Amino acid sequence: MKYKGQQALSIAFVLCMTVCLTYYSNVAVWNSVSSNDLEKETLTVGSVRKLLEEEEFVTERVGSNGQQKRLPQCVIIGARKCGTRALLEFLGLHPWIQSADQEVHFFDNNSNYNRGYEWYKEHMPYSYPRQITVEKSPRYFITEKAPERIHQMNSSIKLIVLLRNPTTRVISDYTQVYYNKIAKGKEVDKFEDLVIDKKTNQINTGYRAVQISIYYNHLLRWLKFFKREQIHVVDGDKLITDPLSEINKVEQFLGLPSKVTQNNIYFNVTRGFYCMRTPKTDQKCLGLTKGRKHPHIEPSILRKLNEFFRPYNKKLYALINQTFDWD
Ligand SMILES: *[C@@H]1O[C@H](CO)[C@@H](O)[C@H](O)[C@H]1NC(C)=O
Ligand SMILES: *[C@@H]1O[C@H](CO)[C@@H](O)[C@H](O)[C@H]1NC(C)=O
Ligand SMILES: *[C@@H]1O[C@H](CO)[C@@H](O)[C@H](O)[C@H]1NC(C)=O
Ligand SMILES: *[C@@H]1O[C@H](CO)[C@@H](O)[C@H](O)[C@H]1NC(C)=O
Repeated sequence: MKYKGQQALSIAFVLCMTVCLTYYSNVAVWNSVSSNDLEKETLTVGSVRKLLEEEEFVTERVGSNGQQKRLPQCVIIGARKCGTRALLEFLGLHPWIQSADQEVHFFDNNSNYNRGYEWYKEHMPYSYPRQITVEKSPRYFITEKAPERIHQMNSSIKLIVLLRNPTTRVISDYTQVYYNKIAKGKEVDKFEDLVIDKKTNQINTGYRAVQISIYYNHLLRWLKFFKREQIHVVDGDKLITDPLSEINKVEQFLGLPSKVTQNNIYFNVTRGFYCMRTPKTDQKCLGLTKGRKHPHIEPSILRKLNEFFRPYNKKLYALINQTFDWD
């Protein structure tokens, strides 16, 4: 059991490295697609999406003089290193969704927030009236004031939160910081020095990466302001292994017709990651950057982390009436 768990964890970690860390990434050539796709091969996604948009929004364009910027009707609030960027990229395939390119950091940054909704709206993409504007800033999830602020802007807004195995998320979080520091020539701490409190030999709850993974604490704050039905929880691990089913659930949550299909998302077995046809680049892969090895982590520390998170996970499952494959 233990061994299996660890194996799953390391597989999850490798996948995490693939998607979370480095997907910024290789725009690779779209190779062959499965044979029943052949007739579609001559159409690029860009042109497919244009056609869809024209078909669906032509009346609105005529009637309302085209697009304008709108406040988001849906916000992806986090969590960090759980695949928020990947989800946004996948959702970008949907013709009814317009997403902000950058993390706006409106609700988690006082100086941005004090600039007001007009400033926020200015950072949104142009959209047609029936399209849904989406923004993502993963720090909202852990920001004390974010739930109240978002509620004040639109109390019926839809929220999406992605969660992964909390231990995997800590490692992924550490690894990203690790490589950022290396790139800047800074000194790096060892994983166990951050995760383990030397005095007690227990998990260091002062380590931010650990705090973020205690999802229960954060969601408790969100559910003080929002109804459970307003928050859609995406399984970030499943988003990696089976993206389509998670994306289809998001489409459903947003009340949108299902438009993202196997034709848009393609798993390249050789590379071990997903490629998509996106409107902007036509072919794009969530890829692995070479040379980034994950640090070795002692199995005993992994066990400790898993044990630490287990009771919080249980409370989370009860809080949101949804379970995950973490324990
Ligand atoms: C998958 O990616 C590899 C490496 O880029 C490439 O050689 C191969 O042709 C791709 N396979 C398919 C089926 O697209
Ligand atoms: C808040 O945003 C401004 C830019 O608008 C940036 O200069 C500042 O560093 C941010 N503050 C924090 C705490 O991230
Ligand atoms: C608030 O969010 C809901 C759900 O996305 C949306 O239907 C509604 O139009 C939004 N209200 C405003 C004023 O943007
Ligand atoms: C919990 O979820 C199950 C299925 O996902 C559903 O049947 C049940 O009604 C939910 N319970 C509550 C209290 O929402």
